[in-house]
Amino acid sequence: MRPGGRDPIGEAARLLRERRGAVALTGAGISVESGIPSFRGAQGMWTKYDPMEYATLHAFVRSPRKVWEMLSEMISVCGGAAPNAAHKGLAALEEAGLLRAVITQNVDGLHQAAGSRRVIEYHGNLEELICLYCWKRYRTRERWSPGPAPRCDCGEILKPNVVLFGEPIPWLPQEQAEEEARTCGVLVVIGTSAQVSPACDIPRIAKESGAAVVEINPEPTSLTGSVADVHLRGGASEVLLRLQEALSRGGDAPATGPSGH
Ligand code: APR
Repeated sequence: MRPGGRDPIGEAARLLRERRGAVALTGAGISVESGIPSFRGAQGMWTKYDPMEYATLHAFVRSPRKVWEMLSEMISVCGGAAPNAAHKGLAALEEAGLLRAVITQNVDGLHQAAGSRRVIEYHGNLEELICLYCWKRYRTRERWSPGPAPRCDCGEILKPNVVLFGEPIPWLPQEQAEEEARTCGVLVVIGTSAQVSPACDIPRIAKESGAAVVEINPEPTSLTGSVADVHLRGGASEVLLRLQEALSRGGDAPATGPSGH
């Protein structure tokens, strides 16, 4: 129970009700319940593929076929996934006028599939392939199939339009994300370990600009107890459902529920 006797879900609901312009920042954790592994943590993607060998631009240019082993697995897993209650919860908050945008580090397209309209894809999207030599672009589903790496008409191996380590964030999503962070009333940070820069700077930018930061994660992160004003400990779907219930009741959630600090 927080100072003032308000439970964390109640406090988060109060912030969303009272402050204008909430924005969400999401990471791999929000898609775990859709069957897409996160990157770090026990079953994380990076426990199977060393990111320095499979997820840097340098590695892609040096051995694109090797990197495509990992990329093909990501495309298959994401291609077979559907949005979960957390993705749908954010779309419902947007529909209700309580959320104005989602900044996502994810490349799975599940926010849009859930109905979210304003989605800033900070790390790009797996649904498009690009040639690093002639800059031609293709729909992944038109050029990719399990097997050899897809090629451009110019003969070069194509790369998904996602941001690999060592690549800069594209100018527009970076500008849009920082603008949302500078001007939002509440930033809801869901399912990110907040270890990768510059995405992990977004909560700090929001906080320094006067926003309240609400974190949803089953584990504490570097934001917990520092940048985050409220930490809602639990899985994204369960916590967002409780938050929506509290919002619809227009008051505090009952004392029981996901433990928060
Ligand atoms: N609900 C909410 N959060 C969850 C859930 C869940 N069901 N399951 C796990 N998490 C949390 C974990 O506790 C962890 O803090 O999600 C977080 C996932 O962290 P990472 O795997 O590090 O993913 P992310 O923060 O999105 O990574 C950032 O790093 O590898 C690069 O480009 C990649 O976009 C990615 C970036």
